[in-house]
Amino acid sequence: MKYLSIQDIIKGLEINKNTEINGWVRTKRGSKNVSFISINDGSTIKNLQIVAEASKFKENELKKINTGACIKVFGEIKKSEGKEQNIEIIANEIVLLGKADPEEYPLQPKKHSLEFLREKAHLRFRTNTFSAVFRIRHALTFAIHNYFNSKGYLNIHTPIITGADAEGAGEMFQVTNLDLNKMPKNEEGNIDFSKDFFGKQTNLTVSGQLEAELGALALGKVYTFGPTFRAENSNTSRHLSEFWMIEPETAFADLDDNMDLAEDFLKYCINYCAENYKNDIEFLNERLQNEEKNLKKEERSEMSLIDRLNFVINNKFERITYTEAINILRNSKPNKKKRFQFLISGFGDDLQSEHERYLVEKKFRKPVIITDYPKKIKAFYMKSNDDDQTVKAMDILFPMIGEMVGGSQREEDYEKLVSRMEEMNIDKKELWWYLETRKFGTCVHSGFGLGFERLMMFITGMKNIRDVIPFPRTPQNAEF
Ligand code: 4AD
Ligand code: MG
Repeated sequence: MKYLSIQDIIKGLEINKNTEINGWVRTKRGSKNVSFISINDGSTIKNLQIVAEASKFKENELKKINTGACIKVFGEIKKSEGKEQNIEIIANEIVLLGKADPEEYPLQPKKHSLEFLREKAHLRFRTNTFSAVFRIRHALTFAIHNYFNSKGYLNIHTPIITGADAEGAGEMFQVTNLDLNKMPKNEEGNIDFSKDFFGKQTNLTVSGQLEAELGALALGKVYTFGPTFRAENSNTSRHLSEFWMIEPETAFADLDDNMDLAEDFLKYCINYCAENYKNDIEFLNERLQNEEKNLKKEERSEMSLIDRLNFVINNKFERITYTEAINILRNSKPNKKKRFQFLISGFGDDLQSEHERYLVEKKFRKPVIITDYPKKIKAFYMKSNDDDQTVKAMDILFPMIGEMVGGSQREEDYEKLVSRMEEMNIDKKELWWYLETRKFGTCVHSGFGLGFERLMMFITGMKNIRDVIPFPRTPQNAEF
């Protein structure tokens, strides 16, 4: 079957040719003599107008073609006389592939709220906003693989089911095929996981990092890009229970190299989407402006979406240490006037999102990389600094989003890693394989994790993370 996509047709190279075209009806208007049917096939944000002259069709045939229906059109590609579109199809035949009863079809040609559309996630792909978002999601995925491929990184697939519960990145979902109503017990009365499918307790992974490190210590440069799972009860606009994470891991790279990579990588990905998906970004730019029209002035974004993307692409990220950040925050107005919910008293305080937003949106007004956090608020695997108080960690904070990236140089010294695990009560036996890489041919190495949906939010301007993943999983919600 040969049919053109709307994306192909609007290029205008096939004028006056006959074609077949398929799509879903967005709107239909017209008179007794002629109908104008606007269809979209997902290949572009642009709709294509089908001109159907009543005389060419059987009585009532056009009546059944309503918003939401799927149709196949045979007709001629013509330069349009109308103002709104350059190209249209003069239909000779229309086949109704799938009808949509206008009384029942939930998506009417009017504005629906994002909350309403979340409940219609099976159909929301058919709206302009979500088709644009999910084309960008594809573009970003492609850009990520393209970037790492061009830099000599190998994509490795790390396991989704894991026996290691030691990363400490978050609460885990357990994986079992035991009958929950009849759990086998051992002599102490605890659940006997030796009877479970894998002969041990297993979970869904919170991160592919530990396995990626094993790869890097042989293949040099690797990255994982997969789903990760966190069972925290975080019902925020920035948390998902199932999200996708990109985790590069680089041998012979220190924290500075790691920051340089992350900054270059983020700029490349944002630029790729802005350059190659201009129509969608322009649409999302306008969407955001319309959405914010109803907000109070102080709640509106200072920059348009497009300006914000360009600003990040063209400006160097600010790099400060945690200790510098604490000093700035302690002396800041909202801290002195007790406007922060969590007041900053000094070294050791964890940064909450209100503090991150202050640094990024008020103080520096651009992405900020914070390094050298206190070891007690960071993971066991991070490389100690000489002060023995801080670790070679880095978090990248973005305007509107907060934490975009978390990473570090890794502790490559066997003795230091073991003593850190002991201090933090981490079972060395469970991570024997991780420790062996420090015993055999260890080296300086670093990596980070980028939350894919957080970057999607930044690029699309969508304010809720549930609107940048097709089927969000959040507490109390696993529909579709
Ligand atoms: O900071 P996190 O927890 O870091 C790690 O998991 C490390 N193992 C990464 C590494 O060094 N290889 O998570 C990394 C990023 C965060 O910065 C954030 O962007 C995103 O993952 N993230 C989430 N995104 C959506 N929903 C959640 N619940 C998220 N938790 C973290
Ligand atoms: Mg983090």
